[in-house]
Amino acid sequence: MRIPVVKIGAAALLASSTSAQLYPGQSALNHTCQLQKPLLSCPSSDPSKVDSCCVETFGGLLLTTQFWNTYTGGETEGQLLPKDTFTLHGLWPDFCNGTYTQYCDLTRQYDPIPSPNTTTGLPNGTFVPPYNGSNIGTFLEPFGRYDLLEYMNAYWVAWRQDNPGFWAHEFSKHATCFSTFNIPCYGPQYRLHEDVVDFFETAIKYYKRFPTFKWLEEAEITPSNKTGYTYATIRDVLFENHGGVPFIGCNGPRYNTTAAGRAANSTDSGFTALSEIWYYEYAYGRPQEGNTIPTSAAPTYLTNCAKAPGAINYYQRSNGSERVPSVPY
Ligand SMILES: *[C@@H]1O[C@H](CO)[C@@H](O)[C@H](O)[C@H]1NC(C)=O
Ligand SMILES: *[C@@H]1O[C@H](CO)[C@@H](O)[C@H](O)[C@H]1NC(C)=O
Ligand SMILES: *[C@@H]1O[C@H](CO)[C@@H](O)[C@H](O)[C@H]1NC(C)=O
Ligand SMILES: *[C@@H]1O[C@H](CO)[C@@H](O)[C@H](O)[C@H]1NC(C)=O
Ligand SMILES: *[C@@H]1O[C@H](CO)[C@@H](O)[C@H](O)[C@H]1NC(C)=O
Ligand SMILES: *[C@@H]1O[C@H](CO)[C@@H](O)[C@H](O)[C@H]1NC(C)=O
Ligand SMILES: *[C@@H]1O[C@H](CO)[C@@H](O)[C@H](O)[C@H]1NC(C)=O
Ligand SMILES: *[C@@H]1O[C@H](CO)[C@@H](O)[C@H](O)[C@H]1NC(C)=O
Ligand SMILES: *[C@@H]1O[C@H](CO)[C@@H](O)[C@H](O)[C@H]1NC(C)=O
Repeated sequence: MRIPVVKIGAAALLASSTSAQLYPGQSALNHTCQLQKPLLSCPSSDPSKVDSCCVETFGGLLLTTQFWNTYTGGETEGQLLPKDTFTLHGLWPDFCNGTYTQYCDLTRQYDPIPSPNTTTGLPNGTFVPPYNGSNIGTFLEPFGRYDLLEYMNAYWVAWRQDNPGFWAHEFSKHATCFSTFNIPCYGPQYRLHEDVVDFFETAIKYYKRFPTFKWLEEAEITPSNKTGYTYATIRDVLFENHGGVPFIGCNGPRYNTTAAGRAANSTDSGFTALSEIWYYEYAYGRPQEGNTIPTSAAPTYLTNCAKAPGAINYYQRSNGSERVPSVPY
């Protein structure tokens, strides 16, 4: 289950500071990961005993998340979905027990619409101030990474929000909760926003490994506004390709409220429109290196989709909402 928890433990252990950073007071020296053992991220290691820049000690359960949307809401501004491809949602660091926290370093708060609006999602959590500076896409320009920006605009496409606002949300809510993307990890010559570039590249590295559309297509599961698909079929195809059982997310009406569900007197109240896939992994050493092993989503939260035969709609995109991407996947 994705239950957010109040952040305590490791951060409190290293320093007692009011600044909302993962490991306040961490040194920028001596993070040569080549000299460290690339330990597995789960079960997590004690950050006082290993270099948390070289081993993920905070959020060791990595989730590569992808969306299937049928439109963006930004079509008139040219914000279109990549044809025949799921879009990148993010790369999330859950705790090894499946809970998670968010907005771990408010000095790197670039999200214009923080959601939730406090660090805990509770009224007594620390307020996350909405960001109002230059959009996060502009951070790539001093690095000359226009190719990265083009790729992100092709495949990391937001739903009912502008793309940079969404990338900033993913960075500030999730990337700041990885130990290995902490600023001291980049050494004393850290360049402003180097961590942002590193995170975007890493999220793409994982995204490219899991070509959901292609995997489903190879099993003759393709978008259709006529045919429904069965949860177990989709799950098995993705499991065979990835090696772990991913979380499969749906939205839309509940099956028991649809014409088909009512006709069958179904008690299956799962949702019926395929919308998201989350792949789970553990990493050896820095997640940036991509040396991972697959694992499965928690057995208690494998899907919120309907399980009745043929109950899942994998909808075709709306006319005018997709394009052939300008750069290869
Ligand atoms: C960095 O490594 C050097 C050489 O091992 C050592 O002398 C120094 O104390 C270390 N500094 C920190 C902050 O770890
Ligand atoms: C899960 O792990 C985190 C981090 O170690 C810890 O803070 C939290 O209390 C744990 N939650 C449960 C339900 O065990
Ligand atoms: C957070 O959002 C909720 C719901 O919109 C609102 O009621 C609350 O006042 C907000 N909290 C803060 C700290 O802004
Ligand atoms: C914040 O609120 C939650 C739920 O209302 C409560 O369980 C928790 O103890 C509160 N935390 C603090 C620090 O007051
Ligand atoms: C922009 O955000 C900063 C930091 O949260 C805040 O101090 C400032 O008032 C904001 N400016 C506007 C125009 O909202
Ligand atoms: C569908 O199932 C949900 C959850 O069990 C239930 O609350 C709802 O009343 C059901 N709706 C119909 C139309 O059966
Ligand atoms: C559904 O329930 C109704 C009323 O109880 C019954 O008449 C009908 O035969 C049932 N349909 C199916 C497919 O079981
Ligand atoms: C397919 O159905 C979805 C959901 O109703 C709709 O949003 C989309 O526009 C449809 N696509 C086409 C090509 O008709
Ligand atoms: C989308 O375009 C196709 C082919 O031109 C057409 O058959 C279909 O009715 C359109 N769908 C919608 C929702 O406009």
